[in-house]
Amino acid sequence: MEEKISQIQKDFLEKINKSSSLKDLDKIFIELFGKNGEIDQLPKEFSKLSEDERRKIGPLFNQVKQELEEAIRVKREGVREETYKALEKEDFTMQPPRLQHKKRQGHLHLATQFKKEIIDLFAKLGFSQFDAPHIELDKYNFEDLNIPKDHPSKDMWDTLYIDTGNLKVEPGSLLLRTHTSNFWPRLMEKGKTPIRAMSFDRCFRYENIDARHSHTFNQFEIAVVGQVNQAITMANLKYLSDYLLQGILGKEAKSRFRPKYYPFVEPGVGIDCLCVFCHGKGCKICSGTGWFEIAGAGLIHPNVFKATNLDPKKYTGLAWGFGPDRMLMLKHEIEDIRFFLEGDLEFLEKF
Ligand code: PHE
Repeated sequence: MEEKISQIQKDFLEKINKSSSLKDLDKIFIELFGKNGEIDQLPKEFSKLSEDERRKIGPLFNQVKQELEEAIRVKREGVREETYKALEKEDFTMQPPRLQHKKRQGHLHLATQFKKEIIDLFAKLGFSQFDAPHIELDKYNFEDLNIPKDHPSKDMWDTLYIDTGNLKVEPGSLLLRTHTSNFWPRLMEKGKTPIRAMSFDRCFRYENIDARHSHTFNQFEIAVVGQVNQAITMANLKYLSDYLLQGILGKEAKSRFRPKYYPFVEPGVGIDCLCVFCHGKGCKICSGTGWFEIAGAGLIHPNVFKATNLDPKKYTGLAWGFGPDRMLMLKHEIEDIRFFLEGDLEFLEKF
């Protein structure tokens, strides 16, 4: 019996030593202490022993039992420790996914690209750029353009007035220009004729904002002034309109004039462009008319010459104010004018 116990002790201590996982140790534990396990079975044989032998074997059995229990406990701890150490070596920090987007390369805004295109087109005809102030005096935006103070025709423009505060200007005479037409009296009063000028720039109106109206928008304006004998006529205006439309939209583009009232031109016209989508047949984009209005135009009114100290008997001129934002919306099927002013990346990257 003594031998048997020593053998169990020896065999199992070796097994415990060799084991390297908690699972193996659990198995060994059951082999020893489980029901029918080696240690569990031993006491059953004690009855066969003599009193003396029992006195000897009892403590030995207890000692070996405790020793094996302890050996398993210690080994378990050792295995746990090693597992923790191995885990510590592993790197569990979360790696951010590699930044997906490429570096964004900026480019000119659609409206700026269009501006360059149109400016280049008209520079070829000898037009030079002249940009007038955005914050403007009533004089240049209205009065010199044959719209006297308090005249009802002023209602044609929903104007944003600026509080003049302590400025040395008449109260109510400062505004955000409602059109680019303020550039012609500013140029004409300088008296340097002939004039062949253009401006592609911002204008402002007190608008209820929606998909087609914005408080801030662009106009492309031209003004031509010369001596009466230079025969600046509606025919020139027609030629220039077709030149512009064909330059932007291609050879098939066509313009048409409709009589229209503007205080600063006589005769005045609204310029329509043949619908690029249905070629005049009528579709939902042109509201079934086959045309869409893109500009106001005409021959410069004699009163504008008078206001700028040019003799209307000696001088004549033509002008138009064209809505490029509208044109771009039609050309690229942009359904909301507000996109032009918002920094929406999806929109910006599309053009
Ligand atoms: N300035 C006018 C507007 O904004 C357009 C226009 C320009 C009309 C030139 C005639 C001549 O409504």
